[in-house]
Amino acid sequence: MIYQSLGEMGKYELFMVILLMDIIVSGWRFDGGGGYGLVDGLRMDYYYMMNCPFAEGIVKNAVNRHLQADPTLAAALIRMHFHDCFVEGCDASVLIDSTKGNTAEKDSPANLSLRGYEIIDEIKEELENRCPGVVSCADILAMAARDAVFFAGGPVYDIPKGRKDGRRSRIEDTINLPPPTLNSSELIRLFGQHGFTAQDMVALSGAHTLGVARCSSFKHRLSNFDSTHDVDPTLDAQFAKTLSKRCSDNSEQAFDTTKNTFDNDYYNALQRKTGVLFSDQTLYNNPRTRGIVNAYAFNQAMFFLDFQQAMIKMGLLDVKEGSNGEVRANCRIIN
Ligand code: HEM
Repeated sequence: MIYQSLGEMGKYELFMVILLMDIIVSGWRFDGGGGYGLVDGLRMDYYYMMNCPFAEGIVKNAVNRHLQADPTLAAALIRMHFHDCFVEGCDASVLIDSTKGNTAEKDSPANLSLRGYEIIDEIKEELENRCPGVVSCADILAMAARDAVFFAGGPVYDIPKGRKDGRRSRIEDTINLPPPTLNSSELIRLFGQHGFTAQDMVALSGAHTLGVARCSSFKHRLSNFDSTHDVDPTLDAQFAKTLSKRCSDNSEQAFDTTKNTFDNDYYNALQRKTGVLFSDQTLYNNPRTRGIVNAYAFNQAMFFLDFQQAMIKMGLLDVKEGSNGEVRANCRIIN
């Protein structure tokens, strides 16, 4: 039946249209569970179901407030979510503080430049006041990263919720985080172990459209690079000088020219041989991933779509459910 205007639609048809739109927007592609909005046991409407419908709004407001004051924190929240998910799954293990008998993930060298813990603490406190014991730290982190992407100008997307928090956080587990010395084939293999395709990996690396790196992350490219080169030959000569300067005055280097804006400029930087990390530039140098870099540099909409899908996938890594986890009262301490 063809409707000439919305006004002619019956209530039932209108309801069906809204329901269909909601399914398409919130869970269609990722609905692995067969039920409405169900993804690997998580749900798009989890906090409605749990009688805490304000959860998403509270997270978004707090993220927006903090990022308005300091836009560089968008990068920090996105990176924190990645470092959470790649170690023990997305279970907020990265948020746990070290104790006398245990050095936690956050004190590993790979995590020392993580920032933004106080934003998560503040959100947790507000949520514990509104709906005690309901919203996990892992979900807060996943939602905060998602909201940070949007705040910085990236795509808007919905994520399934219902993750539980883990009870383990050990420094030695951070061995699973990729060091910036890996080449494209090694990155493909490592991300592949978590179920990601090469395209997912290149899209996720696009998170480096935001933020900065310190000298310690790229200085190996600037001297004694390998047996035949002092400086990484895949690095633009002028840009190598810029990086050396960052090391001499101990300042940070932005990954691209728009460090607080989520766009595809990161991929343009790779085409110009001005990728900051070896692990960035290698994506352009390797024929297996160069085509994907070129596609994203050419087509930002394609990057946004692939990035949001890969982020949703990353947010489902080894999630804990039911009694496999808990809802921490304080994100820094196991209950
Ligand atoms: C592909 C493998 C990856 C490697 C080797 C890598 C490595 C790094 C390194 C070394 C830094 C700089 C740290 C510093 O010098 O303080 C960094 C920063 C960052 N990474 Fe990655 N990363 C990878 C993938 C990802 C992914 C998948 C995401 C998120 C989805 C991400 C998000 C970020 C962000 C946003 C920053 C900037 C942080 C800030 O400015 O505070 N990275 N990464």
